[in-house]
Amino acid sequence: MSAEIISGKEVAENILTTDLKSRVEKLKQSNIIPKLVVILVGEMKASASYVAQKEKFAGKAGIISEVQRFDDNVSEDEILNRISEINSDKSIHGVIVQLPLPKHISVAKVLNNINPDKDVDGFTPFNVGKLFLGEDTLVSCTPKGIMLMLESKNVDLSGKNVTVIGRSNIVGKPVSILCQQQNATVTMCHSKTKDLDSKLADADVVIVAAGVPRFISGSQIPEGAVVIDVGIHNIEGKLCGDVDFESASKRASAITPVPGGVGPMTVCALIENTIIAAERFNSA
Ligand code: GUN
Repeated sequence: MSAEIISGKEVAENILTTDLKSRVEKLKQSNIIPKLVVILVGEMKASASYVAQKEKFAGKAGIISEVQRFDDNVSEDEILNRISEINSDKSIHGVIVQLPLPKHISVAKVLNNINPDKDVDGFTPFNVGKLFLGEDTLVSCTPKGIMLMLESKNVDLSGKNVTVIGRSNIVGKPVSILCQQQNATVTMCHSKTKDLDSKLADADVVIVAAGVPRFISGSQIPEGAVVIDVGIHNIEGKLCGDVDFESASKRASAITPVPGGVGPMTVCALIENTIIAAERFNSA
């Protein structure tokens, strides 16, 4: 079998330039231009490149994005003060703090101080709690992007087996909840999981967010499964994911590439969340 390549790049481009662009046009008729602020601390190359992509996608949908840059040695208080200014600035609809942060800044403290209405990363305890309860909320971007991509490919999760590898707050945990909301049976795996192969054996969909280059190989993928690869690693100048694409694409029915798979969908979801925040602000 040779898998269909699920191009997140194409799906994202399509959503951005049709649905999202027209929602922005509508808001502009009420004199609202959605505005996203990205707080970027330090000089990490990967973070800088993710943030550049966020700015590019914001432009495509017609929203305003502003990157506020801070030195690595910025104090926690300075970041908290800036967040509090952003919280009360009515021209700003969404704010994210690019992670990771330097060790002397508490991620939990920073997230706790973001106004949940502007939390377009969906990382605050309030929004995570609402997601857990199945209430309407701002859903974190990678899980949301994955669901948008599955939906665009008409992958119906009801009654299907989904195996998730990785239990992070950003990807594994929230995507497992979203899949359960779609009536999937979800198996969660992580670094202490015994006999991973048996947990993958009956999977219809495999979502890999292990953070380890080529952690999953084709021999572990059931014939015909849909494979979503969340990882991105630069190995000697070449990008690869958490899945060995070469062997997995021979077994899967559909698979996301790296790059050009989940990454653009994450950014697309961020832009949609910013638009949702602005729409709510408009109707409040
Ligand atoms: N770092 C890696 N992924 C993300 C993300 O989705 N949001 C933020 N804020 N930082 C990240």
